Amino acid sequence: MRAVNMDDLSANLDIERSPAQRLVDAARDQKRVKGLTHEFYRYPARFSPTFVRSAIETFTRPGDWVVDPFAGGGTTLVEAMAMGRNALGIDISSLSSFLCEAKTQVLDDRDVSAFACWMERIDTTINMHAPSERHDEYADAGYYRNLDGPEFWRLRKAIEQALSAAEKLHRRQAHVLARCVVLRTAQWALDSRKTRPSVKAFKSYMHKQAGLMLDAALEFREQIHGLELAHPPKAISLNRTTAGAEKEELVAQVCPPKLIVTSPPYPGIHVLYHRWQVDGRKEAPAPFWIAGKLDGAGSSYYTLGDRKNPNLQSYFDNLKATFDSVAAMAGRETTIVQMVAFSKPDWQLPKYLEVMEECGLEEHRPWDAPLEDDDGRLWRDVPSRRWHAHQKSHAPGAREVVLVHKKAGP
Ligand SMILES: C[S@@+](CC[C@H](N)C(=O)[O-])C[C@H]1O[C@@H](n2cnc3c(N)ncnc32)[C@H](O)[C@@H]1O
Repeated sequence: MRAVNMDDLSANLDIERSPAQRLVDAARDQKRVKGLTHEFYRYPARFSPTFVRSAIETFTRPGDWVVDPFAGGGTTLVEAMAMGRNALGIDISSLSSFLCEAKTQVLDDRDVSAFACWMERIDTTINMHAPSERHDEYADAGYYRNLDGPEFWRLRKAIEQALSAAEKLHRRQAHVLARCVVLRTAQWALDSRKTRPSVKAFKSYMHKQAGLMLDAALEFREQIHGLELAHPPKAISLNRTTAGAEKEELVAQVCPPKLIVTSPPYPGIHVLYHRWQVDGRKEAPAPFWIAGKLDGAGSSYYTLGDRKNPNLQSYFDNLKATFDSVAAMAGRETTIVQMVAFSKPDWQLPKYLEVMEECGLEEHRPWDAPLEDDDGRLWRDVPSRRWHAHQKSHAPGAREVVLVHKKAGP
């Protein structure tokens, strides 16, 4: 396997074009999220690694810090490390923190061996004739909800058995990777599908997935080692709200970063970050149980506010609180790049920009030439995202805009 060379990455994007122009091309790139450890989990509303990579290339150099204050599935952290930058991810969801850790750990050889042993035993570990350990603390707290019926007993048992075996791995990285394999397999088996796979199919998928994820983790490791930097890049993930995060010592140590790149929850657009939908859209909190984490609250906790709130008042209040902190983390040299969509752009985009201004952020348009879009901003059509499936093509919400800001002032 070959480490990805930074020059090759640039060459793919046409060397003749300026960095800003390459950012425009990357924003319009419609390729699926894939490569490195990006496919460890299908986090809702992930942004394109190509776009993040291009923003990182344009605004930072190796060794710089990149911050994502709404880290989600960890796309920014993976891309930053792969390009030799350090990354800090903040997210209110503990599931996000688990994923950030799983996707950015640089495996130690002994962890690889421990994981490989777990993987080779999957076939015997999952056995419907053997007992399984019910995770009482999670079951009693309601994390088995909508998976507790008799029609789910086999898959539930298979998950419990695979998890118990993962919990016996004493090496942390091996444990986290094995848990993530169970999470990804269970997501495939349960989330948004009409029929349930057999235990045989579940086992076979898990074994295949374990192999693919180990290869991906090793590719990520090779990429990092191939950079040959004096200080290997690192990623930190913080599970908390971004509002007030600048007061944390850990955050203060890395701020101001060169780049803040992020995709916050979108105004008025419903995305289920914290649930799987099983058996005809019944919401299951199982991902937290499987990741070994605790859930924060209802969906408005993860979406910056209830989208049914009149004028999205709570959304914009929370946006203000979080971006006050983003502005406090930024310095004069920090570029803030966001990708956002709106259910009703006519009034929500101006309101969004007003909040940015109130937070002391000034809009920039780093493109060399005016863009052809009416308002001169960089818009992109959204490829097959789940929430997008409910929007008509070219209807509001089917397009995302790239916003670039800097701290206002002299
Ligand atoms: C659109 S997702 C980010 C997806 C990410 N760009 C990726 O590629 O996976 C938005 C994230 O914001 C998080 N979030 C919501 N409110 C937050 C808050 N107050 N502070 C930090 N994170 C928050 C959600 O949990 C969710 O993971």
